[in-house]
Amino acid sequence: MFVTTSGLMSFAVLLSGVFALHAATKEGDFGKLPDGRAAHIYTLVNKGGVEARITDYGGIVVSLKTPDKRGAMADIVLGFDSLDGYLKNPGPYFGALIGRYANRIGQAKFVLDGKTYNVPKNDGANSLHGGTQGFDKRLWTAKMLPDGGLELTYVSKDGEEGYPGTLTAIVVYHLTDANELRIDYTATSDKDTVVNLTNHSYFNLKGAGSGDILGHIVTINADRYTPVDSGLIPTGELRSVTGTPFDFQKATAIGARIEQADEQLKLGKGYDHNWVLKRKGDGLEVAARVEEPSSGRVLEVLTMQPGLQFYTGNFLDGTIKGKGNLVYAHRTGFAMETQHYPDSPNKPAFPSVVLKPGQSYKTTTVYRFSVVK
Ligand code: BGC
Repeated sequence: MFVTTSGLMSFAVLLSGVFALHAATKEGDFGKLPDGRAAHIYTLVNKGGVEARITDYGGIVVSLKTPDKRGAMADIVLGFDSLDGYLKNPGPYFGALIGRYANRIGQAKFVLDGKTYNVPKNDGANSLHGGTQGFDKRLWTAKMLPDGGLELTYVSKDGEEGYPGTLTAIVVYHLTDANELRIDYTATSDKDTVVNLTNHSYFNLKGAGSGDILGHIVTINADRYTPVDSGLIPTGELRSVTGTPFDFQKATAIGARIEQADEQLKLGKGYDHNWVLKRKGDGLEVAARVEEPSSGRVLEVLTMQPGLQFYTGNFLDGTIKGKGNLVYAHRTGFAMETQHYPDSPNKPAFPSVVLKPGQSYKTTTVYRFSVVK
């Protein structure tokens, strides 16, 4: 049969229309866990060709391809080509869903309803990112939604990693035609518990593995942050950012002050702190904006959460080779983790992270991508 060019083109347009409607286009294999269970990878694409690949192992965002100001696509998140990479290098939590409690719990214990709960000490004396087998290391149950979203469910048993109550966590990823990666989190519990969920993607808007992130220009909608002790546990103070290297109320390059002789920068080995977001209400509000001048890529972070952990990849040291065998050196990715303040279970003055039976934890984060010329 003879097919004209225009015929081919309209076929392509038709196909792209189908893909836009059903963005979660593909399910593929992503390797096997040590216990033999299979992990999968799901590819979400939008009508502009932006593509996110997400695995049901840890709900990890494995890759995220967005255009620069010239229209050239690059993968802007750090990660690995295969499941094996994630299994061998769990330390940085690249791209993963974090729970039951994202960030640190001081002394790895907390009191809830008069009872002390001990959680794993996996960060010195403290507990980090849900313990030794947090949600980032679990195989979630995936469902491709008719609207193109990817729904991931994980049921965390009562007592798992020391936390009370069976917690059912449902996280839905959507890649919208407005170039947003939208993450909707829901959780319910059958007993009083604490919950703090986030995503731990490391971004480099030049492209993962293309050098450091020090030239990225950051704005954070916060006039206070939570200073920390030597174990990166908040002291409880909400300190003004004014006159400090933590003031990102005006757009400032990450590298402009990161080496200043500031006690808090020394403790974090750079930025590894929680900003107290200025909020108008409980809805989705812009928390931060990041612009990378050479590519023109812009990332906006929207959240309903009270805090934003801004971490500049200070613990990356060049020992990890990621996708395409590229080396992830010091400060070559940054994370913007929307969340409650660290150690909230032990800080009654911080917004509460307690979830009770009958209540529903619901929060949305949007990573929105655009370009400036
Ligand atoms: C923490 C860092 C930690 C990193 C990787 C971030 O959320 O704030 O201190 O090194 O996660 O675990």
